[in-house]
Amino acid sequence: MSGDREAALRGRTILVGVCGGIAAYKCAGVVSALRQAEADVHVIMTEAAQRFVTPLTFEALSGNPVHTDMFAAASTWNIAHIGLVRKAELMVVLNATATTLAKLAHGMADNLLTACVLASRVPVLVAPAMNTQMWQAAPTQANIRMLQERGVHFVEPGAGFLACGEVGEGRLADEDDILAAIGHLLTRARRMSGQRVLVTAGPTREYLDPARFLSNPATGRMGIALAQEAAARGASVTLVCGPTELAVPPSVACVRVTTAREMHAAVMEHLPGCTLFIGAAAVADFRPVRRSDTKVKKSAAARTIELEPNPDIIAEVSLHRPAGCFVVGFAAESGDLEAHAREKLAAKNLDCIVANRIEPEGGAFGSRDNAVVILWGREGREEVARAPKARVAAAILDRIARLRGSA
Ligand code: CTP
Repeated sequence: MSGDREAALRGRTILVGVCGGIAAYKCAGVVSALRQAEADVHVIMTEAAQRFVTPLTFEALSGNPVHTDMFAAASTWNIAHIGLVRKAELMVVLNATATTLAKLAHGMADNLLTACVLASRVPVLVAPAMNTQMWQAAPTQANIRMLQERGVHFVEPGAGFLACGEVGEGRLADEDDILAAIGHLLTRARRMSGQRVLVTAGPTREYLDPARFLSNPATGRMGIALAQEAAARGASVTLVCGPTELAVPPSVACVRVTTAREMHAAVMEHLPGCTLFIGAAAVADFRPVRRSDTKVKKSAAARTIELEPNPDIIAEVSLHRPAGCFVVGFAAESGDLEAHAREKLAAKNLDCIVANRIEPEGGAFGSRDNAVVILWGREGREEVARAPKARVAAAILDRIARLRGSA
């Protein structure tokens, strides 16, 4: 094992779940390697896993008691279920079967392993293994997509000879690839530790009356992805989020707001002490001068709406930033992307700006993927190719770290 990887693993507490399948014996190799790298490894086995390998094997290899029973005596259960989850820095589900993937995707907690994953707030890494047909089946792939969207990490299975006699995809990934993924996640978990990050996300709504408002199609997906990635890197993260249907992960403290003025007030309240501010919200620039408390009837409605400007939140953050706070903006544009974004970078005195297109189809608003250009200084520029927003978020935070000289 490489020195870097050993350093990443040493002294870290890892909860390893082992599922039932012929590759359960290969999980023993992973647990053994983690222990040799001086990680503190705790193993949970499902009932099916114990048909392939005995708990004693994992007990001997991990040097810790193996947990199997959700209904063990209360004291043991408390240690197993709550204590282990609190202690762990990473959860790894090895040899994940189609059934376990389905349970994890749908939040079922009918055994100790699935209950621990559900109760956990730390990163989760899954290494599936199953027959090719089961792997390729639509429900399995849909479950994987659902889990990936929630931030669960995967080590994809390899192709090769399977125990069922077929040759194809579905074989548990190689030990080395699993260990590399574990090392990567544990390193990532400390990359932003000590930082306090404030992110704005989503649209704002500016009401004319209780039934009508001015807004835009932003969903908050990009800002939520950034908040989630920063939290996964060990930062303490607050998200100030406009109206959205999307869930915010429990690793992120979320303040829900509706209007630009509410967003402004929440940002100013949480700004002190922040080391990084990211303005990913699509803030409405104007609000109606008058807001009626009752629904305006069509017959009484004016044909023109008088507007007044909202505060420019990020410009004010930039002006009153806490010492050392790095300020990152977004620019959603429909034409002349980089020229407009560079104007905003300078006008709002930002450290960098992430430019993305509103159009064509699949542009920035609402879509699951995004393609961006990060701009800084006079000429600094990095293109991030179209990818799921979680991956784009990681690329943005990597660039910020490089600009700040910490990576
Ligand atoms: N922003 C903000 N407060 C506002 C308007 C924008 O904090 N009232 C922030 C956004 O979160 C983003 C950046 O400013 O980080 C640029 O937002 P954008 O809407 O693209 O730019 P505007 O300044 O509104 O300019 P325009 O509408 O003319 O493109």
